[in-house]
Amino acid sequence: MAVRHAAVVLGSLITILSCTHSAATPAPAQPSPGPGQVTVVPPRRLPPSRDSLAALRATYVAQVMRQIAGREDQPDTVVFKNVQVLKSLTARQLIEKMDKDYGVALSWNCTNCHRFANEGNWASDTSANKRRARFMQQMTNEINGTTLPKLYPRDTPRIDCATCHRGYNEPPGPQYLIPERGKPGGLPMPNFNRGRAGPPPRSPGE
Ligand code: HEC
Ligand code: HEC
Repeated sequence: MAVRHAAVVLGSLITILSCTHSAATPAPAQPSPGPGQVTVVPPRRLPPSRDSLAALRATYVAQVMRQIAGREDQPDTVVFKNVQVLKSLTARQLIEKMDKDYGVALSWNCTNCHRFANEGNWASDTSANKRRARFMQQMTNEINGTTLPKLYPRDTPRIDCATCHRGYNEPPGPQYLIPERGKPGGLPMPNFNRGRAGPPPRSPGE
């Protein structure tokens, strides 16, 4: 009996510990087991696939584009209410960045950062994820605008969210290195002409 009790306590401890860092999808609180009951740990809900996330985001992108129809190419600071960092983009470029940079880099839906998206409220800052993302954008701008130019004053290379995040909300460590260059699944061999055939293409968002 004592062994069984210890197992239940250990089980709930593991449940509690494994639930402490779940940013995107917090697990529901577990009811404490009654006497003689064994804790059943429900399996964690599998996150949606990247394809289905892209489809979910596409419906929100279409929703916003309808809302701002006719004003897509005006500055985002004019069209939207609460743009504090991404100030040099057009409204269309901002939405593209949300989808193709933020969404793709973290494998998130728009609602992970915009809690009231379904009410058409994109300006709200109630989400901690949105505030973190804004801070991350400032950090990225500092690296691109100040830090990297010190090392590479010409043809300055650029980083973006995906440089670190690689499709996860937590940038993966070295134990998850991608396959070697030139090997199956790895990157192609480097382009040794980089910097000689004109400047590299610039991505929007500074
Ligand atoms: C990782 C978090 C994150 C995700 C995912 C995300 N956004 Fe954003 N979004 C932000 C941040 C941060 C800002 C504010 C940027 C700033 O202050 O410069 C913002 C601003 C906006 C704004 C301007 C709102 C206003 O009135 O100021 C719109 C519209 C918007 N996002 C739409 C979207 C759409 C559509 C998607 C999905 C395709 C999306 N966002 C996904 C973080 C996110
Ligand atoms: C230089 C590397 C780097 C870059 C570039 C970067 N991030 Fe991050 N980001 C991190 C690290 C490290 C964390 C902490 C992850 C953790 O919780 O362990 C993080 C955390 C976050 C989180 C909180 C995730 C969570 O689950 O708590 C958000 C949201 C985020 N980043 C958004 C962005 C966005 C949007 C961009 C691009 C504008 C970006 N990041 C660029 C390294 C980076």
